[in-house]
Amino acid sequence: GSNEEMKELVTVINKLQDAFASTYSGVNLELPKIAVIGGQSAGKSSVLESVAGRDFLPKGAGIVTRCPINLQMIPDEEEYVELLEHPDVRYTDFNDVKKVIADVTDKETADKAVSSKPIMLRFYSPHVLQLTLVDLPGLTKIPVGNQPEDIEQLVHDMILEYIKPSNTLILAVTPATEDLANSDALKLARRVDPEGERTIGVLTKLDLMDKGTDARRVLENKIYPLKRGYIGVVNRSQKDVEEKVDLREARDAEEKFFLEHAVYRHMTDRVGTKTLQRVLNRQLQEHIREKLPGIRSEMIKQKADLQQKLQSMDALEDKDINDNALLHQVMARFTKTMEACFEGFDYSVDTK
Ligand code: GDP
Ligand code: NA
Ligand code: MG
Repeated sequence: GSNEEMKELVTVINKLQDAFASTYSGVNLELPKIAVIGGQSAGKSSVLESVAGRDFLPKGAGIVTRCPINLQMIPDEEEYVELLEHPDVRYTDFNDVKKVIADVTDKETADKAVSSKPIMLRFYSPHVLQLTLVDLPGLTKIPVGNQPEDIEQLVHDMILEYIKPSNTLILAVTPATEDLANSDALKLARRVDPEGERTIGVLTKLDLMDKGTDARRVLENKIYPLKRGYIGVVNRSQKDVEEKVDLREARDAEEKFFLEHAVYRHMTDRVGTKTLQRVLNRQLQEHIREKLPGIRSEMIKQKADLQQKLQSMDALEDKDINDNALLHQVMARFTKTMEACFEGFDYSVDTK
């Protein structure tokens, strides 16, 4: 199942990262970032939170997210959050995290509508993969209050900057209550990813569609086809958030909603937060599988270099014998770690 795949993936990545740390090899396995984009109140922060599995982002009507939020997830035995703003504090209460994010946002945007300076968060947990999620301000059309005239352009440019790198997966969020043809998320994603290689469509608010209508054809990828297709989700409503419905309860309610729906119950591979997580995991695995052969050959090359160095040192009789013993140890360790990393791991590209 996807849980075991996830575990296997975490294990391989951890081994690789250990190997890199212990050998100073300069080889790196950079995992993709996942950026969430879309119009204002489309449900971006809600989607990101459900992918992360924890409730710590400010959400709500209007432009709540006014700075990029860079959420680095790091596997650890304990679960806590660190914020770059307060590097000495370990937050274990997620309400405190929400409050600090809101405070930093207010500070950063005291004299402007939005800021491109990201709020840096580290989320340590036994349940996460080493990857980075980026929450972004929503696209707006018309300036409100004291927002500048060029707010649309400002946010637009900021988002483009974040989704440009080819190593970024784009979650393009559109509420199901809006016409897909007007989707800001899809329009923007297409600018940087015209072939749709790294864009996943996410439809939120399926629960809020007019009675008698549904998103079947969009989810079947028939309206505005994307190579990676669409996933439909139901996040917590504002009322749920206010009543502190927790994420797990919300997941159960979402599952029930889809199972009881005349149309969606037949499309279980296209709906639900669990499905979205599974799709993301698969994309990450593909990415890693694509990268592994290169990393492996780089490690083999380094091993050969090391071996050669050792041989030339062995040839020098006056060399300190302890030095050589140490190097031989390092070599043995390197080889062992390398073998352990790749043993039994099928790194051929999954074409499913
Ligand atoms: P963002 O501005 O795109 O980050 O959107 P938020 O995640 O802050 O969500 C905006 C509002 O829509 C919040 O009040 C959410 O509770 C609500 N919301 C988001 N997704 C859904 C959904 O699938 N169904 C319902 N009913 N409400 C949602
Ligand atoms: Na919002
Ligand atoms: Mg938001």
